[in-house]
Amino acid sequence: MARHLITSALPYINGIKHLGNMVGSMLPADVYSRYLRQRGHDVLYICATDEHGTPAELAAKEQGLPVDEFCASAHDAQKAVYDGFALAFDYFGRSSSQQNVEITQHFARKLNENGFIEERAIRQVYSPADGRFLPDRYVEGTCPHCGYDKARGDQCENCTRVLDPTDLIEPRSAISGSTDLEVRETKHLFLLQSKLQHEVEEWVARHEEEWPQLAASIARKWLNEGLHDRAITRDLDWGVPVPADTWPDLAAEGKVFYVWFDAPIEYIGATKEWADQDPENRDWKSWWYDADDTVRYTEFMAKDNVPFHTVMFPATELGVREPWKKVDYVKAFNWLTYYGGKFSTSQKRGVFTDQALDILPADYWRYFLIANAPESDDSSFTWEHFTATVNKDLADTLGNFVNRVLSFSKKRFGEAVPAGGEPGEAETRLGTEIATLLAEYEAQMEALQFRKAAAALRALWSAGNSYLEEKAPWLEIKTDKDGAALTLRTAMNLIHLYAVVSEPFIPGTAAAMRQAFSLEEDTATWITPDEARALTTVAAGTPFTVPPVLFAKLTDDDLDAYKERFGGEPQPA
Ligand code: MF3
Ligand code: ZN
Repeated sequence: MARHLITSALPYINGIKHLGNMVGSMLPADVYSRYLRQRGHDVLYICATDEHGTPAELAAKEQGLPVDEFCASAHDAQKAVYDGFALAFDYFGRSSSQQNVEITQHFARKLNENGFIEERAIRQVYSPADGRFLPDRYVEGTCPHCGYDKARGDQCENCTRVLDPTDLIEPRSAISGSTDLEVRETKHLFLLQSKLQHEVEEWVARHEEEWPQLAASIARKWLNEGLHDRAITRDLDWGVPVPADTWPDLAAEGKVFYVWFDAPIEYIGATKEWADQDPENRDWKSWWYDADDTVRYTEFMAKDNVPFHTVMFPATELGVREPWKKVDYVKAFNWLTYYGGKFSTSQKRGVFTDQALDILPADYWRYFLIANAPESDDSSFTWEHFTATVNKDLADTLGNFVNRVLSFSKKRFGEAVPAGGEPGEAETRLGTEIATLLAEYEAQMEALQFRKAAAALRALWSAGNSYLEEKAPWLEIKTDKDGAALTLRTAMNLIHLYAVVSEPFIPGTAAAMRQAFSLEEDTATWITPDEARALTTVAAGTPFTVPPVLFAKLTDDDLDAYKERFGGEPQPA
């Protein structure tokens, strides 16, 4: 048994996330956590809302709410959707928590003591009309690189170049629209990442071989471009305050830390939030401090987050000069596209997670998304692909198998698993095949290769169908009742096996399948390939019920309705 710390990139507070966000962070982290728990490991899966920064303030303003109220309700709204998706976080925290404030301030003080923070005067956009400095997204204007006229101060959405607000041509305030802007000098804290370049390089070199290529290559690219000193404070009302004991002047001016400084620290902060709910029984520090030999830490994120997690946050942790746990394995994802175009929160294009749950239960989405996760490349969501996959894999291959076997057995043998004769050649062959496929499934899960794991799971489901077609108990029963009973008992054991091993992907359906059998204990405890080979976990005589149809088949009318509602055409690039 090992201790596994798992985190998924913290979703921004500013709105309900779309399916692309879900598949690149929280969902695979949940699948992996569930799998490891079933294998008996000690797992802690932590996530939280990322609540600071200009996006939070702007979203609150749009809704006419004070930012703290906006964040509290937006956090609950996101949490409700994640519950709907059956994401089994051990804790879903908030980066605005007191715990995160304290740990972030501690990190900053330590970095300062160790000579990695410096106060510098910089020139910043100031708006007299708004009576404030305008950091990051508070300034909009024309991108100096591509001419896009709605570029934001931190980044151009069109050409993706990272910008400084003073770079923008014809800048205007995103708050008031005022173009009467000036540049004023003000002091900020800078993190001297350049001084840490060498150490980060050494640290990356020790890990990159194990990381997936996507994560390793992005880390390398950033290191090759050189680590630059970065401003880690902002003039905002909302954020982790700069501590007055260390920087009285900046604190007096109301400066707060930059969102990307405190957000990754919230992985630790949220763990403390978790522990503070039950301090007698939970110990947050053993997961994070001096834990190199006892904890394996895996992070999940989309590729745009990789530089922060492989280079910048490790640089922060190294500079603190305390033994904080650093990531062991970085699972990074490419983009899920919507008909080849971008899912876009700001432009409301694609399918949002709350809408998805309005349409169909979580398991439909969980399976489809993980089976098509953008692992080695971008992958495209289309309604055609989604409905075809649901119908083929979930409704036909899995759902129909379960219902056919249980209803037929009930009709002919009553409501208990029939006994039948001794296993024959077909059962031995099936057992070998199942053991091989299950071993393959385990290997892909251990390797965090989710598409391949899904393929192995699908192959396990298919093997049951082939066996059933081969034995055809509905014919067998006419001449060999015992033989038909053996076939059905074997098929029911497959159902129970599917219930256990499908749980990481489709936990709701898996529970319904397990509960079809009145076993002494409803447990999802793993079944190993060797145990699976015998196909005898569910004994003859075990009472069962026939669950309602597990997956509804989606019709052409459904498909048309989805496309009508969400738009099903390729988007211009
Ligand atoms: N909120 C960021 C995003 O959605 C991710 C933050 S991850 C963290 O891109 F590590 F900083 F928390
Ligand atoms: Zn641009």
